Amino acid sequence: MAKICVIGTGYVGLVTGTCFSDIGHQVTCLDIDKHRIDQLKNGVMPIYEPGLEQIVEQNVNAGRLKFTTSYPEGLQDAEFAFIAVGTPSSDDGEADMQYITMVVESIAQHLSHPIIIVNKSTVPVGTGDWVAELIVEKNGQNTPSFSVVSNPEFLREGSAINDFMQPDRVVLGSTDLEAAQQVAELYQALRAPIMITDLRTAEMIKYASNAFLAARISFINEIANICESLGADVREVARGMGMDKRIGPSFLDAGLGWGGSCFPKDVKALAYMAATRGAHPQLLQAVMDINQNQRKRAVTKLQKALGSLEGKTVGVLGLSFKPNTDDIRDAPALDIIRMLLESGAIVQAFDPQAMQASKEAIPALVLRESPYEVAKDANALLLATEWNEFKSLDFDIIKENMRGNVILDGRNIWYGQNLHEKGFTYIGMGVPSAQE
Ligand code: UGA
Repeated sequence: MAKICVIGTGYVGLVTGTCFSDIGHQVTCLDIDKHRIDQLKNGVMPIYEPGLEQIVEQNVNAGRLKFTTSYPEGLQDAEFAFIAVGTPSSDDGEADMQYITMVVESIAQHLSHPIIIVNKSTVPVGTGDWVAELIVEKNGQNTPSFSVVSNPEFLREGSAINDFMQPDRVVLGSTDLEAAQQVAELYQALRAPIMITDLRTAEMIKYASNAFLAARISFINEIANICESLGADVREVARGMGMDKRIGPSFLDAGLGWGGSCFPKDVKALAYMAATRGAHPQLLQAVMDINQNQRKRAVTKLQKALGSLEGKTVGVLGLSFKPNTDDIRDAPALDIIRMLLESGAIVQAFDPQAMQASKEAIPALVLRESPYEVAKDANALLLATEWNEFKSLDFDIIKENMRGNVILDGRNIWYGQNLHEKGFTYIGMGVPSAQE
């Protein structure tokens, strides 16, 4: 059992802290947001993540998990301090380091015993070295002994607990091999493959992994667009490609492309890091361009099917950037809704978790209570996020409720449900619409 302080209670920090406590460690989650910590102490989760609330409750009751806003309390006795705060994008794509800086300065200020500082936040390559310099700079000769280890996270929103408990790998990077091995021991119960490398390489593995996954999606979306013009079915193309072990089947779902709090900022930040060092990240640029175009493509498809968008009602199913989360950061749905509104359309939407936040982001958005309400009087229906509950709707009711008959299936989940036979004009992404 180790004593761990996790700083930051967003997705990464809260899931990491909770899961470490679940595998037997003594964890204090620290956040300067008092409201958030008060909520957590009352068992209220600040985010929607399936299964999280229950594990938090179990471990709080077992005395292994605590919450605090106080650095002295959080760091007291801690052998490990995990940094898990956000690194949002600045306008030019550079990662914004203000939260990391605040955390490192606070750790430096309250450091009174030897500690291993583990960085889980996605940070520009070289940050680990900078953290070490900053700690020494703040403490001078009195700095207690410490080491910095990079431990990038590979958690997906919506399946973060499972991703923590059954990781494909745990990546650790440090100039201090012994410190990296001590961090490796924290994960021992998971029996996961562990890779130990140097600091900068570990930091780069995170960016390269996210950029590669984003590139796979943009690749299949480009293929989808080519399939459309040649009459091929991208779903089958992806299946056929994925059977090749060198390619594999995951992250080849064509559709409206990627969004969220990670891929957009990380691909941008990697491109920025490359550009500021004189490299030309052409592929990364194309990956971002293709992704942005998919959103515009959806609007163009609707425009073409409806003649004009002016005064037309479009129903949108799904607002979060992907299913099983309430996160709307850089969600394709929201971008598309903004474009539809700019073209004069009326937009009404439903999402199981992300309605309120979406309304705050786009006040002109009309919220509806169910998919069937969204269909009411709509000229077209757009499926933007593939929540399970949208997969088998009653299309007879939808048809009855709609004013028009256009369906744009942005994630290809209704392909094969014979919507043409039911009288709809079915449009997918990279699938032969006429034969559906
Ligand atoms: C992503 C990575 O998958 C995690 O490994 C990583 O830890 C995380 O970013 C992070 O850096 O924190 P996440 O953003 O939660 O996780 O979401 P993903 O499941 O990766 O999906 C990203 C986007 O790609 C979503 O908008 C999704 O709809 C889209 N997507 C995914 C596709 O369009 N097609 C696919 O085949 C797969």
